[in-house]
Amino acid sequence: MTTIPTLSHGRVTIRPLRLRDTRDLDVALASNRGWLRTWEATNPSGHVSTDVRGSIRALQANARAGLGLPFAMELDGRFVGQLNVSGITYGSLASASIGYWVVEDAAGHNVTPISVALAVDHCFRQVGVHRIEICIRPENAPSLRVVEKLGFRYEGLRRRYIHINGDWRDHFCFALVAEEVREGVLERWVQGRVPPGVGSVPLAARDEAAMPIHTTPRL
Ligand SMILES: CC(C)(COP(=O)(O)OP(=O)(O)OC[C@H]1O[C@@H](n2cnc3c(N)ncnc32)[C@H](O)[C@@H]1OP(=O)(O)O)[C@@H](O)C(=O)NCCC(=O)NCCS
Repeated sequence: MTTIPTLSHGRVTIRPLRLRDTRDLDVALASNRGWLRTWEATNPSGHVSTDVRGSIRALQANARAGLGLPFAMELDGRFVGQLNVSGITYGSLASASIGYWVVEDAAGHNVTPISVALAVDHCFRQVGVHRIEICIRPENAPSLRVVEKLGFRYEGLRRRYIHINGDWRDHFCFALVAEEVREGVLERWVQGRVPPGVGSVPLAARDEAAMPIHTTPRL
């Protein structure tokens, strides 16, 4: 079991996602369908779940097993989105991934970069994670800005990597390891010490992403 803390910076708080968030989460997802659909993870089997309560339970069970940290993101105390640390591994890999979304009317207030910075600092300092990655579709300019602001290092293009909005989609992968940010991700960003250019996608990688890989039809 990994304890999930409540952490704040300015107007932004991350705290454990709870069963009593079901209604807020349900409303947020329903009223932001168009905003979220393009970037939403989908099930390759085609199965669509609308069981929000069940999905919170599943995330909590995952957290009890030490495999994830499901956070709610708040702006001025209002539920505005979700940040999920997933795939936590220990031992010689000691790694994790982060995914996130905010409601459209909370976009542009730095809720996500602040939340990511708080979560990553917690994972590095308290959970013992050594490396954290964030994978983003090449088309997702707002999300690319999040990792750019925080100075996540561009690592490469992963072809047809995650099932999003009904198909396997290419992703740019970004990562940080603990020793790159000993002062903390939040502190480094707030103090304006993110190394310039580190989170930018190289032009050649953008060109590469524009060329789809060759796939063959189903037999
Ligand atoms: C990607 C996302 C999480 C960014 O969250 P956020 O809290 O708005 O992050 P920021 O405030 O740092 O904004 C990032 C960029 O989004 C853009 N942006 C700001 N307001 C916006 C709005 N209303 N609509 C669209 N884009 C906007 C800006 O380019 C901004 O960069 P800037 O601060 O340099 O101007 C959010 O846009 C979102 O939830 N999108 C839909 C789901 C999604 O893409 N999830 C991530 C999958 S990898």
